[in-house]
Amino acid sequence: MGFHYPDALEKHNWVAGGLDAYIYHITPTIVVKTVRPDRAPKEKATGHPLLKEIAFFKRLNERQDRCPHIIECFLMLPDHLFLSYCTHKSLAPRFYERQEREPVKNGGLGRLIRVKEYEDPALIARWIQQLTYALEYVEKMGFCHNDLHASNCLLDGNFNLKLTDFGRATTIGQMLEGVFPPRAKPILAGPLQRTYGLCSARTEQFAVGTLLYFMVYGHEPYDDVILGASEWDRRFGEMEFPELNRNEVFDGLISACWYDVYPTMALVAYDLKRKTKDMVSNAEDIFIDSKKETKTCEALVRRGLLGPELALSFQPAWRRYLHAIVKRSVSIWQCFLRC
Ligand SMILES: Nc1ncnc2c1ncn2[C@@H]1O[C@H](COP(=O)(O)OP(=O)(O)O)[C@@H](O)[C@H]1O
Ligand SMILES: [Mg+2]
Repeated sequence: MGFHYPDALEKHNWVAGGLDAYIYHITPTIVVKTVRPDRAPKEKATGHPLLKEIAFFKRLNERQDRCPHIIECFLMLPDHLFLSYCTHKSLAPRFYERQEREPVKNGGLGRLIRVKEYEDPALIARWIQQLTYALEYVEKMGFCHNDLHASNCLLDGNFNLKLTDFGRATTIGQMLEGVFPPRAKPILAGPLQRTYGLCSARTEQFAVGTLLYFMVYGHEPYDDVILGASEWDRRFGEMEFPELNRNEVFDGLISACWYDVYPTMALVAYDLKRKTKDMVSNAEDIFIDSKKETKTCEALVRRGLLGPELALSFQPAWRRYLHAIVKRSVSIWQCFLRC
């Protein structure tokens, strides 16, 4: 069986689309994440990122405690995730808007010419503290996120960070796949030569280093030159990184992450918080009434947001029973009329 695409969802505001999913805004505080119809395989494969993400949120929601810097998931269905809406969307456009790039014909990103404006260090300190707090939590669950970049870091109404997109999350110790320099460092020798190794605090902190670089420098490493895949691997494999000269505290932390200083993500979070405590500006968490939001999601499905079949499965048992009896009677009647 393939994925289920309800037409009713498409009537709602389309927020964004990543490689594998589309996001629709369905109430002022809720979005629905679903598979991209144009990219989904005909048959449902367990390895599809949305299915992996649903499995991750199931594990997350089974836990008693909550992490305020992981996006809240109100309802999981076999093909859909209902998530808390983040007013300021992802971190990425905030930075890309401040870059001047060479124009390119296909609408992609041209070579970086310059960064017009840099981000406030107090906000960077807040976001990197919140991100690593979330990653410490993910590590406690026995997982790695494996896809850390600015598009997967959302900002709520108070500009607090919420980590999202767990479509590549796996338990610690799996082979790191689908991630390349500058977010991963190839292994040059030994049994795992020419791979990016097993996911762990080593791989996760490397990606944190690159994300912190992006926030501090306003662009990805080596965005001002065009590099082939093998040159990316050579530079990062041989630990040839861009020069760090903007902020002593952040530069030290980027370097520590790139050089794999920390044995755990808990230690990354601890050290980062300690070193940025004098520069950070914090904002209050926005209260989310999860139970109420979950009820809203269920009511929307019941009213047909995801099509009649799912609507029926969300009806009370007596209604489903009544529906089955009516359906049966109609088909007996039709049969009778045809004979
Ligand atoms: N909860 C949300 N609130 C607001 N915008 C969101 C939300 N979730 C995703 N988005 C937007 O959609 C984009 C893609 O979402 P993501 O979950 O990363 O999908 P994909 O798995 O396809 O990468 C994000 O970069 C962001 O701009
Ligand atoms: Mg994404």
